[in-house]
Amino acid sequence: MKIALTCSSKDGLLQEYKNRFGHCAKENIPADFFAEGDSFETINAVKQALTSKGHDVIGIEADAQAGDKLAEARPELVFNIAEGLFGDFRESYIPMLCERLGLPYTGSDPLTLAICLNKARAKEVMMCYNIPTADFKLFYPNELPQRIEFDFPAIIKPVAEGSSKGIFDDSVVTDEREALEKISRNLATYRQPVLLEKFLTGEEFTVAVWGNGHEAEVLPIVAISYKELPVGAQPIYSYEAKWIWDTRDKPLDIFQCPARISQRQEEKIKVLVLSAYRIFGIRDWCRIDVRWDASGIPHVLELNPLPGILPNPEDNSCFPKAARTAGYSYADMINKVVVHAAKRYGLK
Ligand SMILES: Nc1ncnc2c1ncn2[C@@H]1O[C@H](COP(=O)(O)OP(=O)(O)OP(=O)(O)O)[C@@H](O)[C@H]1O
Ligand SMILES: [Mg+2]
Repeated sequence: MKIALTCSSKDGLLQEYKNRFGHCAKENIPADFFAEGDSFETINAVKQALTSKGHDVIGIEADAQAGDKLAEARPELVFNIAEGLFGDFRESYIPMLCERLGLPYTGSDPLTLAICLNKARAKEVMMCYNIPTADFKLFYPNELPQRIEFDFPAIIKPVAEGSSKGIFDDSVVTDEREALEKISRNLATYRQPVLLEKFLTGEEFTVAVWGNGHEAEVLPIVAISYKELPVGAQPIYSYEAKWIWDTRDKPLDIFQCPARISQRQEEKIKVLVLSAYRIFGIRDWCRIDVRWDASGIPHVLELNPLPGILPNPEDNSCFPKAARTAGYSYADMINKVVVHAAKRYGLK
């Protein structure tokens, strides 16, 4: 098949930043600004995975020329991993172009991607469908109140980011004063609304789901344990835990896959993530974060319909980790997503 791999490389995102702001001193950008960009290692691994199964692959950066390039290439399928850089709709950009051009593409549609990226909107949808999710309040730039009534402890995060952007070890807050100070800081840095979310104290899992309709399937569940984090660190998968404390030389030993949990616990997680997958209309693949509350109810933290797929097992990327545990090599995993999408569109 002729496949276009659409991506947002880290260099491409830096270029996009420069295009928007004219000049660019890299030092002035927050350290986590390009956290969601694809490394060349990932882009090449996906390309290789596709070519290894006989596909003819063309790489397309998700920049302003992407639409023209897709129109010219007219691939039979677009394999989309592009995260984009600016705004709540950045993950919807390539799917939108594909919709316009009538090109089949892997993964969720623009609406699902936009809703899942906006964690507050996604939580409202979950609340509407009785999917347990932590209580929250949303704060807007220039509208921070003087008082906040909330059931602390809580966690603060920008409303529309991923890869733990804006979620640091000190994002867990225990009282109103601390919350106000950190929300104000977060609003200034990330220039978007900020969530204050009830802190769930139970065990955490991240769950890869793939397929469509009745064939949607849960891959082996990944448990995340915080015992191995540095002494005094908060029990969260923070930016520090994801990108600073977990290195290839000294990988953090915080994952267990398959999670050693009771059958009952596993069943509860599966029911929860499959119903969220269905309600959000997710297609082909997704990674869903789940955390237990103190009373033993699993909650959905958030959904990642464009899951991270770092190819090197030492990088602890959880979708590939779950697929590996189920017996899929990286190439098998990528090509299984192609099969899910092709089947959905009725392609050969
Ligand atoms: N309400 C909560 N209660 C407890 N812990 C939380 C809560 N919200 C977030 N966390 C912790 O912070 C981590 C990052 O939060 P979240 O998943 O919302 O960020 P993200 O940047 O979207 O992550 P991803 O890398 O999966 O895209 C979670 O994995 C969890 O450890
Ligand atoms: Mg997450």
